[in-house]
Amino acid sequence: MHVILLGPPGAGKGTQAGQIVAATGLVHVATGDMFRENVRGGTELGLLAKQFMDRGELVPDEVTIGMLRERMDRPDAAAGALLDGFPRTVQQAHALDAALAERDQLVDIVLLIDVPADAVRARLGGRWTCPNDGAVYHQTNNPPQVAGHCDKDGAELIQRDDDQPAAIDRRLIAYEEQTLPLIAFYDQAGTLVRIDGARALNDVTTDLLAALPGPALAGGNH
Ligand code: AP5
Repeated sequence: MHVILLGPPGAGKGTQAGQIVAATGLVHVATGDMFRENVRGGTELGLLAKQFMDRGELVPDEVTIGMLRERMDRPDAAAGALLDGFPRTVQQAHALDAALAERDQLVDIVLLIDVPADAVRARLGGRWTCPNDGAVYHQTNNPPQVAGHCDKDGAELIQRDDDQPAAIDRRLIAYEEQTLPLIAFYDQAGTLVRIDGARALNDVTTDLLAALPGPALAGGNH
């Protein structure tokens, strides 16, 4: 089972991915998280990616596709994954289709979390993240139990470098120019489901889970 989470920056992809993983057991593959891990580890890939991420631009396709393919080749992703933040360009979507075809697999469903740009700015401006496990909070919409600390491990929460207003604007432009064409791409493939993401967190989760094919909810990482 391969499920794609699509949506603008701050739509709630990471937040909802946690709920979907808990309900389905799917492996969570988030390219943004993978890049940030590399940045923290000071790897060559991280140093390269950081230049693009800090500017609010997409990391070049060849780099991102190579990283994703390597991740999908690991045994835990052999049967499927929840892809969060990949693909983000039509070229990435074609590369994903080709990689899956090599294993006689397909993209099963694409969940588009639709949120208008104004709401996205408010969400990203108030976002706090756990540097250890990536847990995501919002200072008013989804606050941690103890201000400034992760509910799970107590770590001090941080704000992402790309959550500054100028970088948010550029991320929104990148989404419009490079990622929006994917909506038509997956609409045509018959796999796209639109979810109104401008609602309370739990309501969005309910609709996302309801849209998943039955086998996914039966724990079917098939
Ligand atoms: P990535 O980390 O994927 O960032 P993004 O797509 O910009 O998405 P975000 O993580 O900012 O938001 P989200 O949708 O996960 O929302 P969240 O759940 O946190 O990518 C970062 C960078 O890496 C990219 O800019 C690019 O440079 C690079 N990159 C990654 N993938 C790439 C690719 N495939 N190709 C090339 N480059 C790539 O929620 C946001 C906030 O809102 C939180 O505070 C949350 O608590 C709150 N919230 C969530 N849902 C709700 C709700 N329903 N109501 C109220 N508040 C809510």
